[in-house]
Amino acid sequence: MADRSLLILAGDGIGPEVMAEVRRVIDWFAEARGLAFTVEEDLVGGAAYDVHGAPLADATMAKAQQVDAVLLGAVGGPKYDALDFSVKPERGLLRLRKEMDLFANLRPAQCFEALADASSLKREVIAGLDIMIVRELTSGVYFGSPRGVGVEDGKRVGVNTQRYTEDEIARVARAAFDLAMKRDRRLCSMEKANVMESGVLWREVVTEVGRDYPDVALSHMYADAGAMQLVRWPKQFDVIVTDNLFGDILSDIAAMLTGSLGMLPSASLGAPMANGRPKALYEPVHGSAPDIAGQGLANPIACILSFAMALRYSFALGEEADRLERAVEQVLAQGLRTPDLMTVGGGRKVGTRDMGDAIIAQLQASL
Ligand code: IPM
Ligand code: MG
Repeated sequence: MADRSLLILAGDGIGPEVMAEVRRVIDWFAEARGLAFTVEEDLVGGAAYDVHGAPLADATMAKAQQVDAVLLGAVGGPKYDALDFSVKPERGLLRLRKEMDLFANLRPAQCFEALADASSLKREVIAGLDIMIVRELTSGVYFGSPRGVGVEDGKRVGVNTQRYTEDEIARVARAAFDLAMKRDRRLCSMEKANVMESGVLWREVVTEVGRDYPDVALSHMYADAGAMQLVRWPKQFDVIVTDNLFGDILSDIAAMLTGSLGMLPSASLGAPMANGRPKALYEPVHGSAPDIAGQGLANPIACILSFAMALRYSFALGEEADRLERAVEQVLAQGLRTPDLMTVGGGRKVGTRDMGDAIIAQLQASL
């Protein structure tokens, strides 16, 4: 058995199509680079609900706890919109994040030169962009209680609770400072300390943790101003650290800075396991895109780049991750574009499979 184990949860919508291309990339690394992976596949989201009546079976959860890395495609779709909250496809993903305690969600936004014109923002604003959003992933309003829809004085009331302990803030802050140390040593923390007590604590704790990192320039921004600055002049940022909900929103904004939501990978990391590798789940930032699912149109790059992050963060194969990222960059430079990347007059339109073929051809050429 290979010393590297993966659990693939392709999920719903375009998840299976983009993950099929990742499978081929994994096979290429096994054959051409001698990097064997043990790969298991299982269900998550609506696909799991259809079979088990739950968006993540207990047996799947147990497997996820045992492997080195989980690769996830996407969850959700209109078919499941009317389901009770507790069994919605998204709950499967949230359960994985919570029970694996994947508190640090790394969402890098890099603008590939070839795509600087694919964004709705001006080229000069995004060309050369390379920022990293670190989103807290296991707490905050996503998980706080009380929560629910109740009735008060005959009127319905919807409740969610934003709650952060100092330890939860400190550990994600540390992860962000550590990353900043390996990059340009600048960290911007975003919250709403002007209106939220949890934001006041967030700012305090991040500042305290920062005393251990005298070489990192720490700044603070209100999250709304941060959203505005992200579209105004994103290159002012290096690493951004923020809470679960703000991180969800800010990372979608950051995605558009790279040309398309179809480009953004992510890594969700927890504490080290017995073998020294962190608990980890890798997934594209995009969703299940039900409108284009099953048509072979989806961009597989975010999912493929998520596997590159797995090579880097789970398996310490940074050079192989670089190789894969370079292959993606070259294919884009050649002008290949899935529909989400088409700009007026630009590029040769290809589907999911062709994009995968082209990336594998570039990998082969890199030998
Ligand atoms: C994301 C997604 C998820 C989230 C959904 C699918 C639960 O939007 O990973 O950004 O809100 O965290
Ligand atoms: Mg999101």
